[in-house]
Amino acid sequence: MSEIRNYDDVNEVAEAAAENAVEILSLAIESSGSAIWVLAGGSSPMLAYKKLAKNYADLIDWSLVTVVIGDERLVPLDHKDSNWGAIMRVFDDNPYLSKVARVIPDVTGSVEQVASEYNRMVRQLVADKRFDLVWLGVGEDGHTLSLFPGNAAFVEPNEDWVIPVHDSPKPPSERFTLSLKALEYVTELVIFAVGASKRDALREARLKGRLPIAVAANVVESYGGEVRWLYDDAAWGEE
Ligand code: 6PG
Repeated sequence: MSEIRNYDDVNEVAEAAAENAVEILSLAIESSGSAIWVLAGGSSPMLAYKKLAKNYADLIDWSLVTVVIGDERLVPLDHKDSNWGAIMRVFDDNPYLSKVARVIPDVTGSVEQVASEYNRMVRQLVADKRFDLVWLGVGEDGHTLSLFPGNAAFVEPNEDWVIPVHDSPKPPSERFTLSLKALEYVTELVIFAVGASKRDALREARLKGRLPIAVAANVVESYGGEVRWLYDDAAWGEE
């Protein structure tokens, strides 16, 4: 199932995403004793991590939640471009969120080695379960994760769940990312559809275009997952 929710601005989207994360992760913990959450880099999810830390962090025993990064740039984790590093700084500053269990990427070695090792770790974590919650951002070109239009990581079929990315049009060029294959195992997907610069790509995605964000959402839905698009007015535009 797919649902669109509209909010006034990025702040409201971030607040809604944070509240929803607590709800989804709590339900997973209630039913299975633990939860798996795939994190997104980018500016709009970052605001949501901060809202989560500020307003909702005490509602969950975070030691029962394991976090995975959806895509990462091949830079040290303390580098300014590291998605993981930026998110973990928010988590570590919070007495509750700092307890979260982590599948930490090892970014030493070639992008192939790094992707292959993270693939092994993520597969081992998920085993016969599913990703309870996945957050995804959207780029101006309709990319999501590090799946860019026309790039091999998006275009070529792959059975691995984590794959290397070369020649990313958004720097840095070397990255690794969850694949479309991994998105077959998602229970709840939340998409941050925020900002005027994303409006055209999102309109195309709504028309069931072949942009990565549309394809990603479609994979999740086709394999029984729920997809929630959180729009702000700037991204939705005039209908
Ligand atoms: C990355 C991100 C990327 C991001 C989008 C949206 O590593 O670049 O994972 O997929 O989510 O580009 O980013 P913004 O929210 O900053 O626009």
